[in-house]
Amino acid sequence: MPYIPRRKKKDEKEKEKEDNAEKEAFKKIQAKPVDIDLLKLEKAYAELKESHQKIQETHYEMILRLAIAAEFKDPDTGQHILRIGDYSTAIARQIKLSAHDLEILRYASPMHDIGKIGIPDAILQKPAKLNADEWRIMEQHTVIGAQIFKSAQSPFLRAVSEIALTHHERFDGRGYPNGIPGGKIPIFGRIVAVADIFDALVSKRCYKEAWPFEDGVEYVESLSGSHLDPDLVGAFIKAQEEIRSIYQANKSINEFVKDFHETLESKD
Ligand SMILES: [Fe+2]
Ligand SMILES: [Fe+2]
Repeated sequence: MPYIPRRKKKDEKEKEKEDNAEKEAFKKIQAKPVDIDLLKLEKAYAELKESHQKIQETHYEMILRLAIAAEFKDPDTGQHILRIGDYSTAIARQIKLSAHDLEILRYASPMHDIGKIGIPDAILQKPAKLNADEWRIMEQHTVIGAQIFKSAQSPFLRAVSEIALTHHERFDGRGYPNGIPGGKIPIFGRIVAVADIFDALVSKRCYKEAWPFEDGVEYVESLSGSHLDPDLVGAFIKAQEEIRSIYQANKSINEFVKDFHETLESKD
């Protein structure tokens, strides 16, 4: 039949038209969900990141507040523990610890004396030098602090345990509780030892007046190689201007946590 091929041609054209329409529709269908999914995915990622950040902030803040609660037993102020976080970070920055380690150190170091919650008030608050028996009990704050976080899973809490145990070890091996020497003392413990000694010197305690800043720095220098790691004393001296501004700032916990928020934001 003569018109059949024509019809076929017409059918083919129709078919082609239909196919194209279908392709276009498919393209639209394909493009739309991908766009929506990407947007949704982006939004979900931002929300997840934000809630992760909030959990992390709360986690750190709770730990800091726990450390401050422990400090209430001690006549020293809560500011001591916050300054330890900032001093330790300032020293550690000089020896180029990784950003991750700096963060862990900053928030774990304020917990170094958490074990004091297990020490009797009569010893903690004695307004005079301790006798030998009292010292033996006082030294146990290292072991008690380590035990509190002993089986912790997170690297942060494991660091708290390690710092609590080792911040009174000495470079010459004559420290406590285990008398381990030099490089065998974990780096966090060695750093916190420098920060802790300096802050104890330049702060008022129930048994002594605060030393002037320069005298504190000089005394820390004099402990290089005996009580303290010489490399870290060097780092402390290099970071002196930062140390001085931390010493002068006398930060509150809110400012300390706010700084932490800013640190997180600047990482984005
Ligand atoms: Fe201590
Ligand atoms: Fe301390």
